[in-house]
Amino acid sequence: MRSVTDELGPFPDAAGYDEARDRDRDDPLAAFRHRFVIDDPDLIYLDGNSLGRLPATTRDVVDRVIDSEWGNRLIRSWNEGWWDLQLEIGDRLAPLLGASPGEVMISDSTSVNLYKLAMAATSHRSSRAKVVTDDLNFPTDIYVLSGVAAANDRRLEVVETGGFIGAAPEVHRAIDDETALLSLSHTTFKSGFTYDVAAMTARAHDVGALVLWDLSHSAGVIPIDLNGAGVDLAVGCTYKYLNGGPGSPAFLYVRRDLQPLLENPIPGWWGHAEPFAFDLEYRPIQGIRRFHTGTIPVLSLAPIAAGISDLAEAGIVAVREKSVSLSEFLIGQWEHHLARLGFELASPRDPGSRGSHVSLSHEEAWPIARAMVELGRVIPDFRAPDNLRLGLPPLYSSHVEIHTAVQRMKRIVERGLHHGYAGSKPTVT
Ligand SMILES: Cc1ncc(COP(=O)(O)O)c(C=O)c1O
Repeated sequence: MRSVTDELGPFPDAAGYDEARDRDRDDPLAAFRHRFVIDDPDLIYLDGNSLGRLPATTRDVVDRVIDSEWGNRLIRSWNEGWWDLQLEIGDRLAPLLGASPGEVMISDSTSVNLYKLAMAATSHRSSRAKVVTDDLNFPTDIYVLSGVAAANDRRLEVVETGGFIGAAPEVHRAIDDETALLSLSHTTFKSGFTYDVAAMTARAHDVGALVLWDLSHSAGVIPIDLNGAGVDLAVGCTYKYLNGGPGSPAFLYVRRDLQPLLENPIPGWWGHAEPFAFDLEYRPIQGIRRFHTGTIPVLSLAPIAAGISDLAEAGIVAVREKSVSLSEFLIGQWEHHLARLGFELASPRDPGSRGSHVSLSHEEAWPIARAMVELGRVIPDFRAPDNLRLGLPPLYSSHVEIHTAVQRMKRIVERGLHHGYAGSKPTVT
C-alpha cells in the first residue's frame, strides 16, 4: 500500500482543482502569504486559528527590542516607548474591532481579562443575581464566569444549545431584569458558530444587563463594530488570527463612558494614578489604564504590532471575503470528497453565522488527525470527542492548499492509513 507521503499533490485531476486554482489566481490578498515564514512548502497548516504563523517582520521587532531596547538602552527604554506600548498596540488594534482610540489595551491573558471585566461588570450591576452564558463558550470562560458568580453571590446560567449552533432565542429568554451580565464567545471555539453581536447586545441592554464578548476567534478575521453595536466590554487572544506568537498577551476593551464607572478587581500599581508616587492608598488612573494590574511583558507584547499591521494593510473587509471564500470552498470539497467517508459537517452551513474555521466530525477523528500530521503533512487540530478543526487564516491560506489537504485526508481514510495512529494523546491536541 502506498503512503500519502509519496504523493503530496497538488492533485490537478481531482474535482475542484480548477476552481481552487482560479480562486487563488483572483485572490487580491495572495501576496500576503510571502510575509510569513513558510519554510516547509509541503506542510499545510490549518491550525492558525489556534496559533497563527510567524510574520517575517516579527523577527526584526524581537531583535530590536532585545538588542537595542533591552541590551543597549536598558531601563531607559521604559521612558522611550515601553511604558505606553500596550496602549499604542491597543490603538492599532482598535480599528479592527470597531473601537476608538483609548478603548483597547493589551494586557494579561484572555482568562484574566475576562475575570477582571466580569467582576467589574457584576459589581456595577450589584442588585442583579444572574450571569448568563451558553454551553458553546470556551471552557475557561465558563470556569471564570462561574468563579465570578460564586465570589459575588450570583448564579451562573449556562444556556444549553443542544448542538453546535448558538441558541439566540434561548439566550434571549434567559436574560431578564435579574441579569447583571451576558457573556458569550462571538465565534465559538468548536463549531465556529458566530453570534450577531449587535442583536445580542441590544437584547441585553433592553433588560439593563451589561455585555462582555470573547472575540478570540473573531479578532483579525471578521469585521466587528464594537462602538456601532454599543458593546460594553470585550476580551480576546492575540495569538490566533492576530499572529502575535505563542502566549502573546490578550486584549481588553472597555467602552469609553463605562471606564470611570467600573472598578478593577485586581488593582495594581500600573493602574494607579501616580504609580511612581508609591502611595499606599490606591487611586485609579483615568481611562483604560485602570484595568492594568502589574508590569507588561514587553518581549511578548512587542511582536503583536507586526501581526496587526499586516491585517490593517490587507483590510478587514477583504480578509473576511477571503475567509468566506476559503470556508465555502472547503465545505464544497467536504461534500464532494469526504462526506461519504464518515465525515460530517460540524459547523454552520450559512457563512453569515460562521467564523474562519470549519469543523468536521468523524468517529475516528483522533487517529485521522494524527495520521494527517504524521503521514499527510497537514496540521489540523482535534477537539474532543470527535472534532477536526480546520483553521483558514486568510492572509496565508490558499484554496489549492485546501484542495490538497482534502485529497490527502481522503487517501488516508480510504486506505485505512489512520488505523495505526490511535495511540495516546499528547497534552496539546
Ligand atoms: C475563545 C477562547 N477564549 C479564551 C481562551 C483562553 O485564552 P488564554 O489562555 O489567553 O486565557 C481561548 C484559548 O484558546 C479561546 O479559544
